This record gives sequence, C-alpha cells and structure tokens, in this order.
Amino acid sequence: MTQGHTLNKASQAIVPVAETIGITKRYGGIVALSDANLKILPREVVAIVGDNGAGKSTFVKILSGAQAATEGSLKVGGRDITFHRPSDARDAGIETVYQDLSLAEDLDVLSNLFMGREECYFNFGGLSVLNRPKMIRRAKQLLGEIGVNVPGVHDTVKGLSGGQRQGVAIARAAGWGSQLIIMDEPTAALGVQETAHVHEIIRTLQSRGVAVLLVSHNMKQVMELSTRVYVFRRGRIVAELTTAQTSTDEIIGYITGARG
Ligand SMILES: Nc1ncnc2c1ncn2[C@@H]1O[C@H](COP(=O)(O)OP(=O)(O)OP(=O)(O)O)[C@@H](O)[C@H]1O
Ligand SMILES: [Mg+2]
Repeated sequence: MTQGHTLNKASQAIVPVAETIGITKRYGGIVALSDANLKILPREVVAIVGDNGAGKSTFVKILSGAQAATEGSLKVGGRDITFHRPSDARDAGIETVYQDLSLAEDLDVLSNLFMGREECYFNFGGLSVLNRPKMIRRAKQLLGEIGVNVPGVHDTVKGLSGGQRQGVAIARAAGWGSQLIIMDEPTAALGVQETAHVHEIIRTLQSRGVAVLLVSHNMKQVMELSTRVYVFRRGRIVAELTTAQTSTDEIIGYITGARG
C-alpha cells in the first residue's frame, strides 16, 4: 500500500465537527429553511452567504440550539444529537457569537468572560465564594492567547471599542474548549483596522484547531478567511463551493440567482 493511498483513506475518515441533515424550518406557512445539508470539518472556516431573508440566521439558530428544526437532524462529532436549548449546544462544544454580542455593558471584561461559568472556591446550597485570582489569571491567558487587546480585565465593556467588544465576545466563546464557534456577521459594525484584527483572531482560532462557521455579507472577508462557502437562497442551499476554486463573481451569481 502506498503512503498516498493511506493518506487518502485517512482523509475520507475525517469526522465532521458538526453536520446538519435535511434541516427544514417552517414558521406557520412560511418555509424559512428547506432541506439544509451542511458540514463543518475540523479546522475549517465555513462561510454562509446569501441575501436578506435567505435563511442564514434561521440555520444558525438551529445549530446553536436557540430553535428547534421542524424536520431533519444534527450530528456533532459524528453522533446524532438533539438540542433543546442553547446550553445543550454549548455542552456539545458549539459556541455562538451573536450579532448583538450579548455582552453586559455595565460589567467588566472579567465578569463578561465568566458569565455563568464563574470559578468558585466553593459552591454549596447557593452560597459561593468566587476564586477571583484564578479567574483573572485565566482571563489574561485567554485574551493573550487569541490576541485580544483590552486595557484591563477590570474595565467595563461600556468603555471598549467595537473591535475590543467583538474580541471579548469571541474570547468568551473560545474559552470553554469549544470545537466550533459560530459568528453572525462579526465585523459588520467594525472599521478597517478592527476588522483586520478580528480576521487575525479567526486565523488564530483556526490554528488552534477550532472550526468557525461565519455568516457574512462581506465577499472579501469570505474569500480571505473561508475554506468553503455555502450559498443560501430563499431558504435553500443552492451551492457548496471550495473557496480556492471559486470567485466573488461566481458566489454573487449564486446569491442573486443568475447561477444555479
Ligand atoms: N420568527 C419568525 N416567524 C416568521 N417568519 C420568520 C421568522 N424568522 C424568520 N422568518 C422568515 O424566514 C425567512 C428567513 O429568515 P432569516 O432570518 O433566516 O434570513 P437571513 O438569511 O438571516 O437574512 P438577513 O441577511 O436579513 O439576516 C425570512 O423570510 C423571514 O421573514
Ligand atoms: Mg440574519
């Protein structure tokens, strides 16, 4: 057996981090999403593109456990799984950075990073004492590792720039051993430099073995960051493209319906 053959077999055996099979979502009579089949392999940055109302957010809500599908199933790490709530998805290693970031403006960076996951010296009968030194160490390590620059962990989120906020939201998602981070338009509200920094963070995550599912309207971003692209149109996936083998024009053709 040649080495090439062995490698080939090995690559066929790669288990997707997450996979959707025939996902359909109806709201009353409206079909928001129909028969969506999508998979994300380890270390991939998979982009979802499509016009307004194409079904992108609906898909994200289902994969992040925020809504149940009407039909279809999910697999995580090759296993069938059902999410009843977002914490089920988080427990399975899927974290979501929502477009509004869901940060608590009046709390500091540290509290936001550890929201709901505080480190305690003990926690008994509702009585707990936080292990703040441990949380501070972990927060600094996490922010440093993925390259998020904030003035300090005790600064309130209210005083941060858009890019720093996005960084904190991504760090919070990345901090819990996640396999997959879903980002809904992570740079829509950011300037050029801040966008470039978020791109660096995404690349760092990828190099650390985390897969990213990126919803984006920004074709330059899609071409620069993604490994593959799924085009949604009117609730259907109309194209699955390998980024290195496609072009902005081709993607836009599928988005508008000039193709496919
Ligand atoms: N809660 C809901 N009730 C009824 N219809 C809905 C609901 N949520 C979404 N839809 C419909 O489902 C379709 C897909 O919406 P979705 O939000 O997934 O689109 P999108 O691709 O994320 O668009 P955008 O780029 O504007 O965010 C749209 O026609 C939308 O009006
Ligand atoms: Mg949307």
